[in-house]
Amino acid sequence: MSIEQRVRPEVRAMARPRHGGDVWGRLQVRDFSSNVNPLGAPERLGEYIAEAARDMENYPDDSCAELKDAISSRYGVPPSNIVVGAGSAELIRLFPEVFVRPGDRVVMPRPTFSEYGFACRLMGAEMVDLPLPEDDAFRLDIGSMVSMMLPGTRAVYVCNPNNPTARMLSRKEVLELVAEARRRDVMVFLDETLLELSERDADVTCVPEVESNDNLFIIRSFTKSFAMPGIRVGYGFGSREVIRYMDAARLSWNLGTLEQRVATRLMAEEQEHVRRAVSMLVGEKDRMRSGIARITGTKVALPDSYFFFHSLEELGMTSCQFRDAMLRHNVLVRDCSSFGPPCHGYSRFCVKTRPKDDEFLGALQLVVEEIGGR
Ligand SMILES: Cc1ncc(COP(=O)(O)O)c(C=O)c1O
Repeated sequence: MSIEQRVRPEVRAMARPRHGGDVWGRLQVRDFSSNVNPLGAPERLGEYIAEAARDMENYPDDSCAELKDAISSRYGVPPSNIVVGAGSAELIRLFPEVFVRPGDRVVMPRPTFSEYGFACRLMGAEMVDLPLPEDDAFRLDIGSMVSMMLPGTRAVYVCNPNNPTARMLSRKEVLELVAEARRRDVMVFLDETLLELSERDADVTCVPEVESNDNLFIIRSFTKSFAMPGIRVGYGFGSREVIRYMDAARLSWNLGTLEQRVATRLMAEEQEHVRRAVSMLVGEKDRMRSGIARITGTKVALPDSYFFFHSLEELGMTSCQFRDAMLRHNVLVRDCSSFGPPCHGYSRFCVKTRPKDDEFLGALQLVVEEIGGR
């Protein structure tokens, strides 16, 4: 028997999901392709890491008790409603491992973050796409999603705000979806990793709702809020029962001692850092919007989030061509072709600080001049 024949059929067909942020070894490049806190990591991160780097000869606390306590205090939700992971990516993998059986229908908006589909396909799920309408700025219609919850549907996925489209649902809309799903015995996987850097976070988050909605699971992450993709810490909220099973199935020692200690300090002591970024982003997002509109001569809508999903139609470029053109001026944006049609005609880039955004706008100006625009 060949190795290929020994491999599970779901794995044979797998290709790795593609992501932005590929700046390794290109120090001069400004990364606008990954949506992390524009202020960077908190100044004291190095100090926290140095202080945490002791007793590495012992196994980490497998229950991550201190970190869960810190998350619990920040969100006002008991530790029994919290699970932590090596990045929210681990929890994206864990959710279908716990809830999805081979052949289950899983409904997913398209485009959305690719890791969800990857994890569900690995478990043998039947993936059903809900295409988001380009002519309605990719708005997710709750009624359409509910109508796709046919018998055999195990879960639906919602990313709020959605990666890559930057569209946000209100809490009311999400809870309406959760209620309809509960009536049909369908789980809702809600990704709020990009919400914390939005000024609407407190009004939109559904974290306080998890205990009363046992079909809801929510992920959040340190990656975006504290700009630390290099240290892998994410967390999830669910009812006590949901968390009990997820915690039972997760990888042992999934968070090292270093990660646990650093994340605990950040959660307890660096909320102000996140708040500063949020208030800075409000004004800076609008400045970016008018800068892009001026340079490209197009109308640019204000995104619901702190990143743009920008149509390249007026520039007459594909997502890949735009990425390459901007990269020649040391700015990295997300080539959205991997999200599938119609995303090859869009680019995703985030908002950063004023001087960095000016570099972005400078590069955009040069690209527009190169293609003979205004
Ligand atoms: C929407 C969304 N969710 C989750 C993740 C995973 O992030 P992490 O594993 O670093 O928490 C990402 C990373 O790009 C993302 O964009």
